[in-house]
Amino acid sequence: MDFDIIVIGAGPGGYVAAIKAAQLGKKVCIVEKKHVGGTCLNVGCIPTKVLLKSVETRNEVAQSGKFGITGIDIGGLDIELSVLQERKSSIIKQLVQGVEGLLKKNKVILKSGNAEFIDKKTLKVGDEKITADSIIIAAGSETKSLPVAVDNSMPVYTSTEVLGLKKKPSKMVVIGGGVIGIELAYFLNNIGTDVSIVEFMDRILPPVDAEIAGMVEKQFTEMGIDIHTGAKVTKIEKDGVVFENEGMEQKIKCGAVLMAVGRAPYTDGLNLDAAGVAVERGAVVTDMTMSTNVKGIYAIGDVNGKSMLAHTASMEGLVAVNNICGKYTKMDYGKVPSAIYINPEIASIGLTEDQAKEKYGDIKVGRFPMIGNGKALIEGETRGLVKIITDKSHLEILGAHLYCIRATDMISEISVAMNLECTANELVKMIHPHPTISEAIHEAAHAAEDRPIHF
Ligand code: NAI
Repeated sequence: MDFDIIVIGAGPGGYVAAIKAAQLGKKVCIVEKKHVGGTCLNVGCIPTKVLLKSVETRNEVAQSGKFGITGIDIGGLDIELSVLQERKSSIIKQLVQGVEGLLKKNKVILKSGNAEFIDKKTLKVGDEKITADSIIIAAGSETKSLPVAVDNSMPVYTSTEVLGLKKKPSKMVVIGGGVIGIELAYFLNNIGTDVSIVEFMDRILPPVDAEIAGMVEKQFTEMGIDIHTGAKVTKIEKDGVVFENEGMEQKIKCGAVLMAVGRAPYTDGLNLDAAGVAVERGAVVTDMTMSTNVKGIYAIGDVNGKSMLAHTASMEGLVAVNNICGKYTKMDYGKVPSAIYINPEIASIGLTEDQAKEKYGDIKVGRFPMIGNGKALIEGETRGLVKIITDKSHLEILGAHLYCIRATDMISEISVAMNLECTANELVKMIHPHPTISEAIHEAAHAAEDRPIHF
């Protein structure tokens, strides 16, 4: 064999797996056909957050007067997209070079090109054939689009294209009110685009806790975003999007469309049949050890369609490598945190309130509104709440849902708590520094005991 392990795809699943395997003494090759860093670094998580950071900076400056800052012409504030694009490109470049440097430092061989299976242990990359005892497929995902008639004169963008915008569109319809649709609708609205969201389900952010999704819908409506739920898009015409809502046909006129109806596992060009790897509804089938149906072949990240998040992919990579190295490890999809970067931020883990009620019947919900948190007041951002869901008898934490300032950083505390099977009573006993936003988590735990102190 040429290598112990070949990893296909250098996104956050693949490159983490490759580095960890090399650290554990394996001879590793990673094959990438586009860009090191994958979707997340190049056209996903990282660039989106760069764009959103500019919006937040502008919004903070706009509020500087209430913090006693003078001398700023608030009326003249604007966002220069070309500067933002340059900043985005330089951050991506730095991160990609960083990953390439880490691969090199760990003696992982990086090959450019498409990896195609010839058999269970052999891949073809360009004119070369390479072999390995174990192969990890980490080929990622691609954007989905709707099977509806589209007039070619209407620009229909994917999230990748919106991330590269150099001009502000005047009116855009966002099809899909999921995570991508919501983050980009928030960005577009903030740069001055008139935005409508058309969502097929009966609410935006279907997987998010219903109470929080409702609060976001209210916030977006107040921001001037027009939201249509329960709406099935039937065609895209040259001057607008047509959809059916409760049997009635409606049309929203616009100059551009963002298609944000989800992502699909990407297996094109892998020739999985040659290795006999099973695929179901487009996704490579894996068990909890990340093994496919073929011994020695693993699949991690978006390509297995289980939880399309960068941090899930990285953890699946570690799980696969552990198993290859003889240390039996399983993935736990019940404790994957998720984060949405609008302002206030949203972060969740575990069961939503509705899911917990369905599974356990009687539950406890500890809620704490941010208006009761001193640090939130100091920061000037008191919107939102923290809620912790527990079972009724032991107050074991089943889930947590944060819609508040710094939510995306704070959810890690609940991740640790849930992995240690912590109860709300135990969380109450843990001292939280004052004044911090994290005290809202402490208070929500107090509230689960029916005794919140500051509310
Ligand atoms: P998604 O699956 O989250 O949302 C797609 C939305 O489109 C759903 O709400 C769905 O009901 C709706 N939809 C489907 N068909 C429709 C139709 N015919 N008409 C109207 N609406 C329709 O997918 P999204 O937002 O494209 O994101 C893709 C993946 O990337 C997700 O797994 C997401 O978690 C991940 N992601 C994560 C981010 C984060 O962690 N901050 C940021 C962006 C993406």
